[in-house]
Amino acid sequence: MRGDQVIVVSNREPYIHEKEGEHVVVKRPASGLVTAVEPVMRACSGTWIAHGSGSGDKLVVDSRDRVRVPPGKEEYTLRRLWLTPEEEQGYYYGFANEGLWPLCHVAHVRPVFRESDWEAYKHVNQRFADAVVAEARSEDPIVLVQDYHFALLPAMIRKRLPRATILTFWHIPWPNPESFGICPWRREILQGMLGSTILGFHTRYHCKNFLETVDRYLEARIEHEHSTISFQQDTTLIEAYPISIEWPTDTMVSRWPSVSACRAKLMERLDLPHDHKVAVGVDRFDYTKGILERLHAVERMLEKYPEWIGRFSFVQVAAPSRSSLEEYKSFQDRIHRVTARINERFGHAGYAPVHLLAQHFGHEAVNELYRAADVCLVTSLHDGMNLVCKEFVAARDDEQGVLILSRFAGAAREMPEALIVNPYHVEELADALLRSITMPPAEQRERMASLRMTVREFNVYRWAGRMLADAGRTRLRERIEAR
Ligand code: G6P
Repeated sequence: MRGDQVIVVSNREPYIHEKEGEHVVVKRPASGLVTAVEPVMRACSGTWIAHGSGSGDKLVVDSRDRVRVPPGKEEYTLRRLWLTPEEEQGYYYGFANEGLWPLCHVAHVRPVFRESDWEAYKHVNQRFADAVVAEARSEDPIVLVQDYHFALLPAMIRKRLPRATILTFWHIPWPNPESFGICPWRREILQGMLGSTILGFHTRYHCKNFLETVDRYLEARIEHEHSTISFQQDTTLIEAYPISIEWPTDTMVSRWPSVSACRAKLMERLDLPHDHKVAVGVDRFDYTKGILERLHAVERMLEKYPEWIGRFSFVQVAAPSRSSLEEYKSFQDRIHRVTARINERFGHAGYAPVHLLAQHFGHEAVNELYRAADVCLVTSLHDGMNLVCKEFVAARDDEQGVLILSRFAGAAREMPEALIVNPYHVEELADALLRSITMPPAEQRERMASLRMTVREFNVYRWAGRMLADAGRTRLRERIEAR
């Protein structure tokens, strides 16, 4: 595959240029997808097509809407595609985030399906397909389609570039056929995805759900032994590729402030004594992440074990996300209210049990927070993979710190040395919290060392490498068959 052109398509762009007064500043979005795909893209250069969402994005592109990134260390091309406010509303906020997001997470938020959103979704997928065709320098590029914003894109690309190798990765869960069946356009979505050469999910469970969904709603041939689906002219391999992070190099680690410096900084910021126990959560401010359940568990722990009042705090970083949607707004308001109630109930002058930092933290600040914490809480109600838990582990070269991880995050399958919890069970979560802050250093080390081995080995290059190797085999087979 050496020399083949690689094109990535995602909704969210890896670098956002924002106007701040006279200046243009570059920001990194809070997105697991971007965290994972960016290092791969840096390694293989190529072109990344994404929605240009920043207020300064147009100021830095060339006449063909391209900019070389990362800024200052240009390794690949970012091609921006502009959406009108109506397109963004219908395709992104509407169909993708009020329809597919709750549909696939089955997170007790009712999906909303509007005809107009669906029309916008189709239209925007078509616009991205046009952009892929325009960027393609050969008849058979390798196109990496990312996530639920682009269910229709694979078949649209296939129609125009029949020899392209299309690798689609679905970054969120895939539900069972009954749950998925409520989508009025279920057949179109499935047909669109089956334009892919390879369709990847995080876990075997999601692959199985997908195969069963196709079996239920399309007349396709499914070969369970090879995990392939043949539909009309195309055959798609359905495979699990657990996504991961870039493992930090020794040079990167050598530049990090020490664990004790990180801890001192956090304690100073929160005005807490050095031996205070601190648990952290780092998420987008999203109803699937189990933030409310965490707060309930903190409250229950302080109620049940009052000796920890004044000696334990929970710090939640919640990066504002999709805030113009009603479900997000009311969820965020509720979290603020519950935080205030817990702080009123258990706090006193100079002590707040919960610190809610509803703001975007950059990568370095998050890393320092991970290094400062005694515990990291990942309590998603449902999550494709979740990369926060992997980032926490990567940050702890001191082999200390405890990870509490939801059994409903894809990552739980790879990280059994964490304290695995059911976030819906407040009592269980409260007890896990107590266990985490009282865990002896030797046990922390044992668990953390093993977690670190897993994440170091199964890093993001392995994720991409496996997918690209499978694609390479398919390309070779096709070339042999065409002879
Ligand atoms: C999830 C999705 C990504 C998305 C990210 C951030 O991780 O799978 O596709 O980029 O959330 O959400 P946003 O809507 O801000 O891009």
